[in-house]
Amino acid sequence: MQRRVLFVDDEPNVLNGLRRMLRPMRDEWATDFAEGGPQALAKLEKERFDIVVSDMRMPGMSGDQLLEEVRVRHPHMVRIVLTGQCDKESGLRAFRVAHRMLNKPCDPEILKRTIGNACALQALVSDAAVRKLITGKDSIPSLPSLFLEILAELDKDEASVPKLAAMISRDITMLAKMLQVANSSFYGARTDVTSPAHLITMLGLNSMRHLVLAVGIFSAFKMSQFGPVSIEAIWEHSQKAAALAKTIARAAGKELALVENAGTAGMLHDVGKLVFLDSTPQAYLRALQTAQATGQPEWVAERAALGANHAEVGGCLLQLWGLPTSIVEAVAWHHGPSKCAMPEFTPLTAVHVADGLLATRAGEADRFDHAYLARLGLEDRLPAWEALMETTIKEPQPC
Ligand SMILES: [Fe+2]
Ligand SMILES: [Fe+2]
Repeated sequence: MQRRVLFVDDEPNVLNGLRRMLRPMRDEWATDFAEGGPQALAKLEKERFDIVVSDMRMPGMSGDQLLEEVRVRHPHMVRIVLTGQCDKESGLRAFRVAHRMLNKPCDPEILKRTIGNACALQALVSDAAVRKLITGKDSIPSLPSLFLEILAELDKDEASVPKLAAMISRDITMLAKMLQVANSSFYGARTDVTSPAHLITMLGLNSMRHLVLAVGIFSAFKMSQFGPVSIEAIWEHSQKAAALAKTIARAAGKELALVENAGTAGMLHDVGKLVFLDSTPQAYLRALQTAQATGQPEWVAERAALGANHAEVGGCLLQLWGLPTSIVEAVAWHHGPSKCAMPEFTPLTAVHVADGLLATRAGEADRFDHAYLARLGLEDRLPAWEALMETTIKEPQPC
């Protein structure tokens, strides 16, 4: 399918450069160009486009103002920002309204892959079957407000430890859950973690952010046991996947931010199962029974019975909640990573491998997407990762 892409920049030279650079892609993309926000909005009123790629700094209407308008008026579109040097504040503004941010000048291959991935995720979010599963009951589950308050405090440059400790203490279930995780071997606690302040200092603000998010998301779903499926079992499996995904990313020599995102994605990768249990428990259980009876993987039976699988539904939920793209991709495609166009190791790689290793360890059939691992040149790493698993996965210590 040919995609319609609108490029926006106030400098005609930049647009001419893009025109030349993108000529070889004319079979895949129909491109158009606008010199500034108002012209872009006028074009969008007349014709339907799939993607907008905008410069950030433009006189009159900035890139983020334009993309905010596009978000409201044309919500189906993928929004991408191309930035040169930009300060933290405008970077943050762009981050809020854009699906992706790319640096200028941009390699056409990277632009092509970015657009491909963004379109695939956007298609997932607009898929009627997936949306219906998420909004099945009445509205999209939302994060409890206390978690949002904590995440906002963590976002501040000078986040206050006493303030955060006081906030965590307001919810006894959250405090208990966080202490349990912090005391488990997954976070490497060497001494007993007993107070919220101690917890924050031990984990560091970055890990705190991810842990708050994971605990918050799990507590957004109220049920604790439904038939043979227990939330506690999903939570435990998720913690193991998180620890293992981090270890795998670290062993691949990846930078801290990628390692942390791999951990968060591991923690959240099966969140779609919670959505199913919440919105359509009977049909979900029937799908699980079919999987067991036929030997199909769960996600294949789910797709046949419900129209989408737990990975897609989870990815869609996290996309709607505005989580970073690399985490959304890891969750949405953890059972089918070949859908990701990126040719390098990402949090998706770590989560796919971690989940596959845990499945093998639990006696399930081979779940690896071998074609994907071969494309990344990583297939021969499986035995080494398997050895890493045994040193990483230990049962959580009681708190
Ligand atoms: Fe899964
Ligand atoms: Fe899993």
